[in-house]
Amino acid sequence: MKTISIIGGTGNQGKGLALRLGAAGYPIVLGSRSSEKAIKVANEIKEQHGNINIEGVDNGTAAERGDVVILTIPFKSQNDILDPLKEKLSGKIVVDTTVALIPGKPPTTENVPEGSAAEKLQVILGSDVKVVSAFHTISAHMLEDMEKELKGDTLVAGDDAPAKEVVIELANKIGLRGLNAGPLKVSSTLERITALVIGMNIRYKKKSIGVDFTNV
Ligand SMILES: NC(=O)c1ccc[n+]([C@@H]2O[C@H](COP(=O)([O-])OP(=O)(O)OC[C@H]3O[C@@H](n4cnc5c(N)ncnc54)[C@H](OP(=O)(O)O)[C@@H]3O)[C@@H](O)[C@H]2O)c1
Repeated sequence: MKTISIIGGTGNQGKGLALRLGAAGYPIVLGSRSSEKAIKVANEIKEQHGNINIEGVDNGTAAERGDVVILTIPFKSQNDILDPLKEKLSGKIVVDTTVALIPGKPPTTENVPEGSAAEKLQVILGSDVKVVSAFHTISAHMLEDMEKELKGDTLVAGDDAPAKEVVIELANKIGLRGLNAGPLKVSSTLERITALVIGMNIRYKKKSIGVDFTNV
């Protein structure tokens, strides 16, 4: 089974994806700017779900070890975190969950000059990295609530078709339905839909509103 690394895996979204993918049987390498913090969080995840194969390491080691590398870091940290990891990520599938969110009522997204957070990531990492944009509308709350099965769709965008298939399979393995949304440039739409979904959660006082496409 492919090893999944999560850069910024100590945050809410990273922990949630680690739990779900780990419970589905994938070996997880949880990355952080601090290896001590990563070890602590990896141990907490193991306590919560004993059967997960998970290790906490620094982000550089996580970038090296993953067959697939998921990013769960703030948009504003993209350059700081990823510039030093470029070589280690060369040729790999990098899954971006980032939304350049402007909190508010309603929440909106920043106008990213490259088009979207994922397209900016592709520019930072270079064209030999297979950037795939996914999991935006799956809230950390949904992921971390292991009592409930995951459901709903996640839209997956990217320019490398086989890489997109790998990410669709990850989504399907944790109970979601991964749908091919098109090339990476549609990520701007995916990221904006996420702001809409967060606004809906606020309006309806929910934490788990997602998206479902009918008749696909
Ligand atoms: N939360 C959700 O429901 C959700 C849903 C979809 C997408 N996302 C996306 O996932 C990403 C992470 O969101 P999150 O809610 O998990 O955030 P979070 O809880 O704040 O975690 C972000 C992680 O990123 C790392 N990080 C690196 N640079 C940082 C900085 N300058 N300031 C703070 N943290 C920094 C931290 O790990 P270390 O300190 O260990 O390095 C931190 O644990 C965002 O891009 C967000 O748009 C989140």
